[in-house]
Amino acid sequence: MALRLSSLPSLAFSPSRPSMSSTRLQHSHLNHSSARLRISSSHSTPFTALTTNTNTVADQPNSTPTSETFDWFSHWYPLALLRDLDKRAPKGLMVLGLDVVIWWDRVEGAWKVFNDRCPHRLAPLSEGRIDHKGRLQCVYHGWCFDSAGACKYIPQAPALGPPVHKNEKACIAVYPSIEQNGLLWFWPNSSPQYKDIMHKTKPPYIPELDDPSFVSILSTREVLYGYEALTENILDPSHVPYAHHGLMDLQKKEDPGRYASTASILNFIYQEGGIPIELTIEKSDISGFGAKQDGGYHKFIAPCVYYFSIYKDHSVRTSWNEPIIVNIILCIPVRPGKSRVISITAWNFATWADKFVPRWYFYTGANLVIDLDSDLFLLHAQEQTVASERISNWHSSCNVPTKSDAMIVAFRTWLRKYSNNQVNWGTKEFTPLPTASLPKEQLMNRYWSHVVHCKSCSRALRALKFIKVSLQVVSIALIGILAAANHSLTSNSTKTIAVIVAVLCFLASNWLSQFIYKTFYYQDYNHAIFRTSQSLFKRIVGGI
Ligand code: FES
Ligand SMILES: [Fe+2]
Repeated sequence: MALRLSSLPSLAFSPSRPSMSSTRLQHSHLNHSSARLRISSSHSTPFTALTTNTNTVADQPNSTPTSETFDWFSHWYPLALLRDLDKRAPKGLMVLGLDVVIWWDRVEGAWKVFNDRCPHRLAPLSEGRIDHKGRLQCVYHGWCFDSAGACKYIPQAPALGPPVHKNEKACIAVYPSIEQNGLLWFWPNSSPQYKDIMHKTKPPYIPELDDPSFVSILSTREVLYGYEALTENILDPSHVPYAHHGLMDLQKKEDPGRYASTASILNFIYQEGGIPIELTIEKSDISGFGAKQDGGYHKFIAPCVYYFSIYKDHSVRTSWNEPIIVNIILCIPVRPGKSRVISITAWNFATWADKFVPRWYFYTGANLVIDLDSDLFLLHAQEQTVASERISNWHSSCNVPTKSDAMIVAFRTWLRKYSNNQVNWGTKEFTPLPTASLPKEQLMNRYWSHVVHCKSCSRALRALKFIKVSLQVVSIALIGILAAANHSLTSNSTKTIAVIVAVLCFLASNWLSQFIYKTFYYQDYNHAIFRTSQSLFKRIVGGI
């Protein structure tokens, strides 16, 4: 059975929901009277309940900047999926314009996040190694650092000379970090005052990810457009039937006015899935906003978290046994023109799917949808146009007359009101975005944007390449053996079978080669000619 959700923004794969009818999803009652609270005291603040101070699309743009300013450097940011990190090797990433290196400190048994810059001559520590004492070592000249960022060893300094390694300038900035929900989060401020920040405030908590009755899929991908374009896209349910046309089997819903007009218009709706979407913004403030939709509730928790559930309050359900699916998308600013997405889908029904389908198989399907191949080029080009119009003009440059754009207007309004229309990149200066679009092959390259960061996909790629080469070897070996045994007593039927096997192996390796390229490297998405039958995602979901 295929995916069946109402028009949600870029939602990840969800298996069939046998006991939850689509009608239930469309018309769920946000009834909290029989509430059952399932939130631990240590995580008592996330996804705070939202009040009902209702704003409409029309009155959002009129809000003016306030004296309150959003502090981008005083929030937790998700860095990576814990299960994709390699304890043997440091890993470099950029978040909020900061180059950081993640490494496993086996002495303390914890992940550490450092400034990715050796204090000696600024080489990247992410190219380094973990030395025999478990310290982070810069491989340019061998300086070693402990878990507190203190320099412990300078090979070039005489052992009996002055202890130059103890100089403050030989230390590395350490960022606070915390593990939560299978993710490593970091606090982008290394000032000593934030050293214990993890004991005072925690990242937004997602209880479903630690709930044993749920299974979840987490995946990550880097995209070559900025945080603003990404967040807008995630908050935009109405683009799904168009930008992801043919990839998702969306629930069809009638628009009464159009239904009454002509049959041809009705057909139009049924074919494409575009419908009016009633979104009502509730309580927009510096922390984000919530939005009510028929059949669900959206939350934007600044700066990174988008959360969708059929319940307004994630910890309150009318029935604990009811099938639930939640979608969380983490939008991470990397630098202007680049961002990182972590998509999470958790559900508590048909959980067997998670046991039988390997992660990489989910991801190669999800890459087409949640990881945005099909609208990647649109957003990349749109971002350049928005930049050329001047970002401060967004509200006047765009025409957003319907309620389906309410969350986008709310987001842009939030950005204008609390952050001068843009991400604060701190002291880092970046060159302006290039005016020409990058080639699609570069924009939609799956290897560098996802596979290289994902253990499951990397392993699958290695295995499939091995199978491909093995098939070629078998094919060539069989032909060689046949040629060598041409005048021996080998029977005709044996020869025929050997030739057939050799040809089949050759064809299979050819097919596998194309599969590998499309799945792990690049597959174009042409909006004009894309057909549902091309959808790997659809085939995966349809098979479940
Ligand atoms: S640059 Fe790191 S040790 Fe020299
Ligand atoms: Fe999308």
